[in-house]
Amino acid sequence: MVCEQKKIQFRRMASGDVEQVHALDKMSFAMPWSERSYRYEVSQNQNAILWVAEVVSDDEVAPETSPVTIVGMIVVWFVVDEAHIGTIAVHPDYQRCGIGRRLLAASLLESQKLGGVSALLEVRSSNLAAQNLYKEFGFVEAGVRSHYYQDNGEDALLLNLDHLDHEALTLLNAKEVK
Ligand SMILES: CC(C)(COP(=O)(O)OP(=O)(O)OC[C@H]1O[C@@H](n2cnc3c(N)ncnc32)[C@H](O)[C@@H]1OP(=O)(O)O)[C@@H](O)C(=O)NCCC(=O)NCCS
Repeated sequence: MVCEQKKIQFRRMASGDVEQVHALDKMSFAMPWSERSYRYEVSQNQNAILWVAEVVSDDEVAPETSPVTIVGMIVVWFVVDEAHIGTIAVHPDYQRCGIGRRLLAASLLESQKLGGVSALLEVRSSNLAAQNLYKEFGFVEAGVRSHYYQDNGEDALLLNLDHLDHEALTLLNAKEVK
């Protein structure tokens, strides 16, 4: 697995990350956001909680031989006391290493520290990988939005986590990237 040979660091998204974050979005979703949307989230949206996972470059390897540095990202909107997961993606070569879990845990912990008590999100009914990730955090189905996705008319499941538990999130955030 590629992650085993790399050191992954988690930090808040910065303006300079937008191009790579947008590239990751395009390779991850049938209906990607615009680059402008990410610029807005990073530079103007005071309610956005934004994290990335990046590969820390090995001193012995020239950076240009490993152009992909941002391998994961998450956008969470924090409104009143609720965290709404807007998007999350991990580069296909780096999936199943624990990066998505750490991104979600870090952003929900930050939400909880800001006074958040709950979280919600929409996920495609066919997206079992993501649903398994959310189940690990305790998200449960709260409803279905029929024909929510415009590209293929797929339903969205509305998932809810009614208690942001600091200890549970801290444990999830402490899990090693494999
Ligand atoms: C969903 C996504 C973000 C998960 O990221 P990831 O870094 O691969 O996930 P993790 O390695 O942290 O997995 C954590 C847990 O989620 C579940 N999971 C993740 N990917 C899975 C898969 N392909 N199949 C089954 N379960 C999966 C597992 O329970 C996993 O724990 P385990 O590996 O110990 O069994 C990633 O698959 C992705 O970017 N998909 C494309 C974009 C997308 O669908 N985003 C979600 C939109 S709602």
